[in-house]
Amino acid sequence: MSDSPDRTPHREINPIAQALNEKLEEAAPEVLAMLSEYGRRLYFPKGIISQTAEARQRANRFNATIGIATEEGGPMSLSSVVSQLGDVPVADAVTYAPPAGRPGLRALWREKLLAENPSLTDKAFGQPLVTSAITHGLSLAGELFLDPGDVMLLPDKLWGNYRLTFEVHHGARIETFPFYLGSGGDSGSSDSRGLDRMDTEAFAARLAELGEGREKLVVLLNFPNNPTGYMPTPEEGDALAAALERQAERGTKLVVICDDAYFGLFYHLGGASMTESLFGKLTGRHPNLLAVKLDGATKELFVWGLRCGFITFGPGRPEAAEIVCDALDAKTRGAVRGGVSNVPQLSQTLVERALGSPGLAAEREAKCETLRLRAERVFEVANQPKFAESWSVYPFNSGYFMLVRVEGVDAEKLRVHLLDEHGVGLIATSATDIRVAFSCLEAQDVEPLFEALHQAIQELR
Ligand SMILES: Cc1ncc(COP(=O)(O)O)c(C=O)c1O
Repeated sequence: MSDSPDRTPHREINPIAQALNEKLEEAAPEVLAMLSEYGRRLYFPKGIISQTAEARQRANRFNATIGIATEEGGPMSLSSVVSQLGDVPVADAVTYAPPAGRPGLRALWREKLLAENPSLTDKAFGQPLVTSAITHGLSLAGELFLDPGDVMLLPDKLWGNYRLTFEVHHGARIETFPFYLGSGGDSGSSDSRGLDRMDTEAFAARLAELGEGREKLVVLLNFPNNPTGYMPTPEEGDALAAALERQAERGTKLVVICDDAYFGLFYHLGGASMTESLFGKLTGRHPNLLAVKLDGATKELFVWGLRCGFITFGPGRPEAAEIVCDALDAKTRGAVRGGVSNVPQLSQTLVERALGSPGLAAEREAKCETLRLRAERVFEVANQPKFAESWSVYPFNSGYFMLVRVEGVDAEKLRVHLLDEHGVGLIATSATDIRVAFSCLEAQDVEPLFEALHQAIQELR
């Protein structure tokens, strides 16, 4: 007899999870088919949180349910902490927030989504759930929809952290398509001039190829993009959405994650870009297509360290949207509760109060204008003919970043040389590509930076 421990995974489905799955099966079976095994097992327990919520309403003598310490009708607190809070009420700072987030914050973020994405008007989509910023939203999306071995489609220009989240954590396989026309895919091509706009046909072709014989695909599109700083034109946005609809019509269940981290930072360099999230075009589009919007206050409200973001579901069947959103809401709350418990209350309160502040829109516009001026300066400087022998500029028009493809040198060697010899820090994203974060460059620093890049390339050749 072997004395090795039993390593059989626990796979039982709780009756509450089972009930959620049955609701999905009846209203939108394709959404149930999109869920990972963990996603199917997820539910929000009728445990401490829901018993506490009931007691809050009905325990009018003593409420001894809450897992915090209280006195005199409020949370116990220390003046060394309270004295830091300004006019934020103690209860809005130090108590636990609900697993889905503060209800007021969720409502205000939904209003913001509608105001900034007119194509969502009259569409049936869920109430945003609060996440510990977008990275946590990505992780939640992985938990809900990815099993080891599942395939994801992303552009070949991608934020490196996706590999940790989706490949290392969830065991998914990332496949790519060439982001730009004329860029020749991952390896670059010898035809270095004339990088054009987005290669939506390559996206459609790769989607069809990967969809062949697969029940489900998870697609992740990040616009404005990191590392390229690219937001598609309206025509490109239509082409991406049409390709997804065609593939959904062919029968592939598609979960499309829209990472909108840099939403709103649109500068329209070299022509008009979209100013709405693809989420608006995808919600309610096809039963086999579930749109998942990830966005956050981190970049949009310039509060990176507050770790406040959102996950919002845009189901394909308008008539079943409420049931689908309720079930996904419960499963996501379960994942939050079992992962980080809840997102910091103080962060949520600050973001909620900022969203209600009358000055917010003008303040955001002013910061966007500062970034736009930097982006314009970069556009002007980096595209100068004198630099053409050193790099090609990938089209960019938005966000924080731009990317150049350097000529005749290895990007990583160049990065190190720039640090060692010029005191300049840039990011090498592949063997050929170097990313410049103009978001943290003053306008007057743009020209000297590109001069240094040019000189470093000449030195290395
Ligand atoms: C494309 C993209 N998504 C998500 C994130 C992470 O955002 P957050 O700080 O909200 O987790 C970043 C940040 O660098 C990013 O570039």
